[in-house]
Amino acid sequence: MTVMPAMEPAPARTALRRHYLMCRPEHFAVTYAINPWMDPAAGADAARAVAQWEALRAAYLRLGHEVSLIEPVAGLPDMVFAANGALVVGGRVYGARFTHAERRAEGPAYAAWLRANGFGEVREPEHVNEGEGDFLTLDHVILAGTGFRTEIAAHQEAQEFLGRPVVTLRLVDPRFYHLDTALFPLDGGNVAYFPGAFSPGSRAVLERLFPEAVVADERDAAVLGLNAVCDGRNVVINAEAEGLIGALREHGYDPVPVDLSELRKAGGGPKCCTLELRG
Ligand code: ARG
Repeated sequence: MTVMPAMEPAPARTALRRHYLMCRPEHFAVTYAINPWMDPAAGADAARAVAQWEALRAAYLRLGHEVSLIEPVAGLPDMVFAANGALVVGGRVYGARFTHAERRAEGPAYAAWLRANGFGEVREPEHVNEGEGDFLTLDHVILAGTGFRTEIAAHQEAQEFLGRPVVTLRLVDPRFYHLDTALFPLDGGNVAYFPGAFSPGSRAVLERLFPEAVVADERDAAVLGLNAVCDGRNVVINAEAEGLIGALREHGYDPVPVDLSELRKAGGGPKCCTLELRG
């Protein structure tokens, strides 16, 4: 007779207090299309975007996190997506250099805010990279996306500047043009992701690095459910990602559903609106 192993209960998860930088979407609009989510003909409603964004900020504050704000700039409708503004690790700032001309001015704007707010070491990047949109930081490794925006040369530049191993992951589906639309860290050593967004080789890398990963399906990915923010326990996530929300609960996490449907018209979700400042 074979003895079935008992189902292990999900371990208790621990939240760590974070410091986030956000940008109120006062000038939000969809006036150009640089990813498949954006339709300038359909437009977007800035007032609705602000209301949804305020609820996101309130959720972070309720969870005990610190939120700093950068002043929005007229004419930069995507500036709400703070994640793209830089990569901040160990108090050092690797600046962003945007792919598309429409967003290029955001890089210097975020770098200036960080300099003015106590981050002395700001690296002006030589290579195209979109900050935390394509760089996700874990304890022992930084995962870095390429294929649509950030160049591999920037992965190497970031590794050299930050002194942390950077692992390149290739994105292959234009709907998931930034790494943070297809994967998010659950804690310093594990992730959730949608395999279909990655090349076969990168999928194999993820399986090897994260055998315990929470794997999401296409339906969760298609509502930007992977564009989530986890503090080790609480997961701020698009409410429409119902399957993933259930899976996270089973793994011992506390999902905090939010409605960012207006910002999704520009291809963004909770994580896009959030730049983590790691001191
Ligand atoms: N419209 C923006 C772009 O295409 C959305 C950026 C979303 N940010 C993110 N971290 N995925 O650049």
